[in-house]
Amino acid sequence: MFTLEKKTALVTGAAGGIGAACAKMYAEHKISGMVLTDVRKENLDKAAEEIEKSTGLKCRTIAADLRKEEDDRALVAEAAREFGRLDIVLNCAGVSRKGSLYDVNEDQWDFTFNSNVKGLFFVCREAFGVMEKQGGGCIINLASQAARSGGILVTPDYPSSKAAVLTLTKSLAKAGASKQIRVNTVAPGLIATEMTTSFGYDPKTVPLGRIGSGEDVAGAALFLASDYASYITGACIDVNGGIAMI
Ligand SMILES: NC(=O)c1ccc[n+]([C@@H]2O[C@H](COP(=O)([O-])OP(=O)(O)OC[C@H]3O[C@@H](n4cnc5c(N)ncnc54)[C@H](O)[C@@H]3O)[C@@H](O)[C@H]2O)c1
Repeated sequence: MFTLEKKTALVTGAAGGIGAACAKMYAEHKISGMVLTDVRKENLDKAAEEIEKSTGLKCRTIAADLRKEEDDRALVAEAAREFGRLDIVLNCAGVSRKGSLYDVNEDQWDFTFNSNVKGLFFVCREAFGVMEKQGGGCIINLASQAARSGGILVTPDYPSSKAAVLTLTKSLAKAGASKQIRVNTVAPGLIATEMTTSFGYDPKTVPLGRIGSGEDVAGAALFLASDYASYITGACIDVNGGIAMI
C-alpha cells in the first residue's frame, strides 16, 4: 500500500483536472499536509473543499499566476513555511489550445511557454533551494505524449513546450541527484479534463479503448512521490492507454 505519511506537498494547477485528481489521491494516501495553488481561486477553493469532505485533510490554497518569477518565489517559500519542510512538488499547471500553426502568434507562443515552461522552472528552482537544505525531496512535472508525437489537435507551441519540460526535467534530475532531489516526468496521452473537452477524440483509436481520467495520471504521480520510487530520477512515466505504440 502506497503511503505518503509524514510527507508534505505543493500541487500546482490544482483547481481541476489532473492536478485536483492527484491532490485528492495524495490526500487519500495520508499525506500530512498540502498546499494547492492555481490562478483560478474559486475553483481552487472548491477542489480543496472536495478533498476535505472526502478525506478530512484541510489543504491551504494560494492563488498565484505561475508565469511570474516573483510569485513562484513567494509561493514556494510560503508552502515551505506552512509545514517547515516541502517533500513533494507536483507541477500540473499548464495551458493548451486546439488549433493549427496559423493560430499561433507571438502572444500565444509566449503565453504557452511562459505558462508551461518558465513558470514550472522557477517553481522547481525555488523548491530546489528548500529541498537541498532539508536533505532531499521529489519533483514531478507534467509533460505530454504530444512532446514526442508533435501533438494531434493542439497548436504546435504546446507539444514544443512539453518537449522542453521533458528535457528540463532531465537537466534538473542531474542537478538534483547528488542532493537526493529526484525529478521525474509523467507524460499523459488524452485525459478527460476541462483542457480537452472540445477535442472530440475517438476512444476507439486508443489501444486500451478509452480516454484516460485524472485518476489514471494520479496513480503514476502517487508512485513517483512515494518511497517505492526512491531509485527513480530523470525518468518519464507514460500514461496514455497505449497510444505511443501506434
Ligand atoms: N488533459 C490532457 O489530455 C493532458 C495530456 C497531456 C498533458 N496534460 C498536462 O497535464 C497538466 C494538467 O492538465 P489538465 O488536463 O488537468 O488541464 P486543466 O486545464 O484542467 O488544468 C490546468 C490547470 O492549470 C492552471 N493554470 C494554467 N496556467 C496557470 C498559471 N500561469 N498559473 C497558475 N495556474 C495555471 C489552470 O487554471 C488549470 O486549473 C497540464 O500541464 C497539461 O498540459 C494534460
